[in-house]
Amino acid sequence: MRSRFFRIVFVLTILSTALWAADDGAALYKKKCAHCHGASGEGKPAMKAPALKGTALDAGAVADQITKGKAGSKAPHTKGISGVTDDQAKAIAAYVKGL
Ligand code: HEC
Repeated sequence: MRSRFFRIVFVLTILSTALWAADDGAALYKKKCAHCHGASGEGKPAMKAPALKGTALDAGAVADQITKGKAGSKAPHTKGISGVTDDQAKAIAAYVKGL
C-alpha cells in the first residue's frame, strides 16, 4: 500500500517535470522568437525570418542557432541570442521541432 503511494508520487513528479519543460519552451519561444518567426513558426517574409515549422534542422542545430548563432547569418543570429541559457535553448528547440 505504502509503496504504491510512493510509486504514484514518483510518476506524477516525472510527468509534471516533463510538462513544465514543454511549457517553458513554448513560453520562451513566444517571448524570444515569435515576433520574427511567427506565433506558429510560420515565418515572416517581411522580416526575412524563415519558417521554423517543419524545419529540416535537427533540435541540436536549432539550439546551436540560438546559443552560438551561425557564421554569415543576420542579426540576431550573428552571435546567438543573448540572455538564453543552454537549457532554455534546448527547451525552445524541442518546442520548435514539435510545431
Ligand atoms: C529579430 C528577428 C529574429 C528573432 C528575434 C529570432 N530570429 Fe531566428 N532568424 C531570423 C532571420 C532573419 C533568420 C534568417 C537569416 C539568417 O540566417 O541570417 C533566422 C534564422 C533562424 C534559423 C535558421 C533557419 C534555417 O532554416 O536555416 C533558426 C533555427 C532560427 N532562426 C531560430 C530562432 C529561434 C529559436 C529564435 C528564438 C530564440 C529566433 N530564431 C529569434 C530572425 C530572428
